[in-house]
Amino acid sequence: MEKYFIYTYGCQMNVHETEKLAGILEDRGYMQASTPTDADVIVFNTCCIRESAEQKIIGNIGSIKPLKKAKKDLIVAVCGCMAQQKDMVDTLRKKFPFINIVFGANNIEFFGEYLDAYKSQKKFLNKVEQDKDYIENISGVSCVRDNSLYAYVNIMYGCNNFCTYCIVPYVRGREKSRTPESIYAEVKTLIKLGYKVITLLGQNVNSYGLDGNTNGVNFAKLLDNIAKFDGDFELRFMTSHPKDLSDEVIDVLASNPKISKTLHLPVQAGSNKILKEMNRSYTREKYLDLISRIREKIPEITLSTDIIVGFPGESDADYLETVDLIETVRYHNAFIFMYSKRKGTIAEKMENQVPLSIKRERIHKLLDIQHHISEELFNKMVGSTIRVLVDEECENEYTAKAQCGKVAKIKKTEPLSVGEFYNIKITDYKKGNLIGTITND
Ligand code: 5AD
Ligand code: SF4
Repeated sequence: MEKYFIYTYGCQMNVHETEKLAGILEDRGYMQASTPTDADVIVFNTCCIRESAEQKIIGNIGSIKPLKKAKKDLIVAVCGCMAQQKDMVDTLRKKFPFINIVFGANNIEFFGEYLDAYKSQKKFLNKVEQDKDYIENISGVSCVRDNSLYAYVNIMYGCNNFCTYCIVPYVRGREKSRTPESIYAEVKTLIKLGYKVITLLGQNVNSYGLDGNTNGVNFAKLLDNIAKFDGDFELRFMTSHPKDLSDEVIDVLASNPKISKTLHLPVQAGSNKILKEMNRSYTREKYLDLISRIREKIPEITLSTDIIVGFPGESDADYLETVDLIETVRYHNAFIFMYSKRKGTIAEKMENQVPLSIKRERIHKLLDIQHHISEELFNKMVGSTIRVLVDEECENEYTAKAQCGKVAKIKKTEPLSVGEFYNIKITDYKKGNLIGTITND
């Protein structure tokens, strides 16, 4: 039996698209290899959000060279966002002439056909199409899911926002919503199969339906309808652009027990000047007002965010406004990045690029501040009762996940079932994990 190995980089969207690539390969009789050395097909499902991601991928593609030398029939394919960039196919081919197939982020569903074509013709295939939006054909694409409890469901593709630092709208095209019917059918199947946590995915889920593809169903309605499905499951979603998170969505979140009380709400920066330059379409005050409105209706909400430090023109004073914002909001978790210049974006050409040494200094300080806030918030949870999904049985304990994604450890005092939700009373917070005991409170 022939085997495949897929390298996956980047966001949840890519992780999920890898599950589809695996589905396509398994439909063709391939099985998963445990290492690239054992594989007959190696796929690089790439990301280009920051330069560091690209450098890592380039390094990893380079490391395949000896394998290809040793196994002449090995097929090497590169797909995803990095491949989709302008001129990238030429660059990749020059650097790595052994690559056999390149296809874009919006052509994943056709991988099987590309593979068949390459096998019969043995000729390099370039299937990257610029300016192509996603064509939904998901019902025909099998999916080998990575996990039997947690499942991702794409509800839309692409992005219309053009934040000035971001390459996503260039490589993933314009927003395209899936029909509610096809989403409902997929979610219902997943619930029947025993999946317990369903995460709806999109670059900006709040603009679901704004493209007119959904018969008037907006994100709030979609969420509300899915949250009312029968079955014991939890519903999550990401990512929400703060400018589009409506009161209607907040109300749906507040009133449906099946929706996780956790929100990822990327702020990116705390200074109005930088937010404007980033084209984020909200001010610091509007963002903080949104947070207050959410907390008023859902006091138990846990919040997380994304932050970029060192965006062009970010002064010390601007940076301190970001520090102040994270100290004001107090997120449970923050993903903090150094600004990375992306080819073709508006910010690439901005003057006043911030030197790497300053970006480094800012990120280290901010990570430290955030670490202290996270520690304080998780320590404060000690004594409270939360609902968790038990997802693994170990020798002396069970591991579980809280709604915010935090790992919880439960001492084995009574038998629990993997794949069931339990209430636990948190007794401690140690080494980044919540520690708890089962409670009927
Ligand atoms: N540089 C640094 N971080 C970036 N992000 C997007 N583009 C860039 C860039 N050019 C971050 C944003 C986004 C997250 C997914 O990645 O914070 O929310
Ligand atoms: Fe990029 Fe902004 Fe779109 Fe998010 S909303 S994918 S940061 S352009």
